[in-house]
Amino acid sequence: MIVTPLQPKHVSEVHQLMELGEPFIRARTLSDYWLYAKLFSSTCPIAISEDNTIMGAVIAFRSQDEPADIYVQDVMTHLLHRRSGIARALLHSVRSQADKWDCERLYLTSEPDNHAAHACWTALGFVNVPGDHEVNGISVISDFKGPGRSRAVYELLLT
Ligand SMILES: CC(C)(COP(=O)(O)OP(=O)(O)OC[C@H]1O[C@@H](n2cnc3c(N)ncnc32)[C@H](O)[C@@H]1OP(=O)(O)O)[C@@H](O)C(=O)NCCC(=O)NCCS
Repeated sequence: MIVTPLQPKHVSEVHQLMELGEPFIRARTLSDYWLYAKLFSSTCPIAISEDNTIMGAVIAFRSQDEPADIYVQDVMTHLLHRRSGIARALLHSVRSQADKWDCERLYLTSEPDNHAAHACWTALGFVNVPGDHEVNGISVISDFKGPGRSRAVYELLLT
């Protein structure tokens, strides 16, 4: 497996991969992936197999408002390649970039019924940020992403 920054030539295949992520991932538009490839490639790694197919992708951004923060928007591994360390490798790549920038925190959100995501984040050292209520033992912050858009929030402190 090769982990490499997203490039414009990968946009169509990454879009197709993300379309397989329902219900937890909603694919963005081709223009969005082009933008991620052009402006944010160092925090948007993809995992490529030996036969040159894209097995997984992470879309993440360094905050302009809080430069110590990197927000991870999407983590996706193709169904055929799950539990083989792809998300681990991709998030390791983001973390390496965060270290180069002296960032202090990676954070992300997921929906509280996304058990695979919860297991993955906690296995990788992310902590479920205390919220205002719990769903199935997972702490959730109400309206985190706007009215009615409650999320479980996870963070990995890098200091
Ligand atoms: C969540 C997701 C990204 C994990 O990707 P992955 O490449 O399979 O994860 P990894 O193989 O790197 O797993 C790393 C560790 O996380 C944990 N883990 C990952 N998936 C798990 C699962 N389904 N059940 C239990 N533990 C899991 C394990 O501890 C694993 O290490 P191990 O296999 O050595 O035990 C993947 O299931 C996925 O793409 N889901 C659909 C999209 C999605 O929901 N994304 C998250 C919201 S943005």
